[in-house]
Amino acid sequence: MLEKIKEIQQAGLEALAAVASEEALQGWKVTHLGRNSAIMGVFKNMGSVPKEQRGEVGRAANQAKQALEAAFEEKAAALKEAALQRSLQEERLDITLPGRAIPRGRLHPVTQTLREITRVFAEMGFQVYRSREVETDEYNFQLLNFPPHHPAREMQDSFYVQSAEARGDNPLLLRTHTSPGQIHAMRQFAAENPENPPPVRIILPGMCYRYEQVSTRYESQFTQVEGLAVGKDITFSDLKGTLADFARRMFGQDVRARFRASHFPFTEPSAEMDIQCFLCGGDGCQVCKRTGWLEILGCGMVHPNVLRNGGYDPERYTGYAFGMGPERITMLRHHIEDIRYFWANDLRFLEQF
Ligand code: DAH
Repeated sequence: MLEKIKEIQQAGLEALAAVASEEALQGWKVTHLGRNSAIMGVFKNMGSVPKEQRGEVGRAANQAKQALEAAFEEKAAALKEAALQRSLQEERLDITLPGRAIPRGRLHPVTQTLREITRVFAEMGFQVYRSREVETDEYNFQLLNFPPHHPAREMQDSFYVQSAEARGDNPLLLRTHTSPGQIHAMRQFAAENPENPPPVRIILPGMCYRYEQVSTRYESQFTQVEGLAVGKDITFSDLKGTLADFARRMFGQDVRARFRASHFPFTEPSAEMDIQCFLCGGDGCQVCKRTGWLEILGCGMVHPNVLRNGGYDPERYTGYAFGMGPERITMLRHHIEDIRYFWANDLRFLEQF
């Protein structure tokens, strides 16, 4: 019997030596120390051991059991330590690794141009005035001196936002230019003091929409920056001086500007401003079509009817206005040959700016 106890202990210790995981250890415990284990069998069968040997056998069995238990505790501690070492090794945080870069967005090229234009006019004392994109025919055309059927409407084919039956004689449409903001702004300013309206000096940036035949030069959606100055004694030379100064601040101190007679219903007289080509310096190149000049904006003295529609008495007030297209300026600056890139949302294009 004593021999058998020794074997049980020996077998248990040998099996324990092969245990390499927490799971296997629990399995070993059931087999070698559990209720149905060999060593527990010895205790259970104590009754069949001759009386005079019981003391010795019992002591031997207890020793064997304690030896197995001690070995179990030791093994459990060793496994725990190994697991800790392993996790320290494997999950070590390497603080010298470079972090994951967060991709940075950027401003749309037209927004960049728009902000530059805004900055230049802000320096000259112009405030930004925001105006709605959905307009009535009245604001978009009639109050700007385009009566119904006026031929100048031809150039601004519109997107109507109501069904043909619902339109009536003052239909809602997407604004075709930022000019209706002139009327909204003047009316708001004039409301402050209808007898003696305050001077106006604002720019109106924003999105415009036209029912265009889309091509490399025309998009159905584009931005404009409108400008308006109204006050007493504002003259055409104020217009020329301000816009020539804008051109220098925007395109470079040496840039020359010229004005050509033009026509808009809401200005009289009207002009177009060209600047000396900033790519060839005026010598003539592909971008300026060998003329040495680039057309940048339309402008003029605010028509008396428009002043009146805004609540300003044309006998006492004068003003000038201008309008330009940031897409066009951006195209000239960066040699962009197709306006459709701006709304195509192709990152290969957008990431270049
Ligand atoms: N609204 C004109 C257009 O879209 C641009 C323009 C020209 C605006 C002359 C003006 C101006 O204020 O004076 O074609």
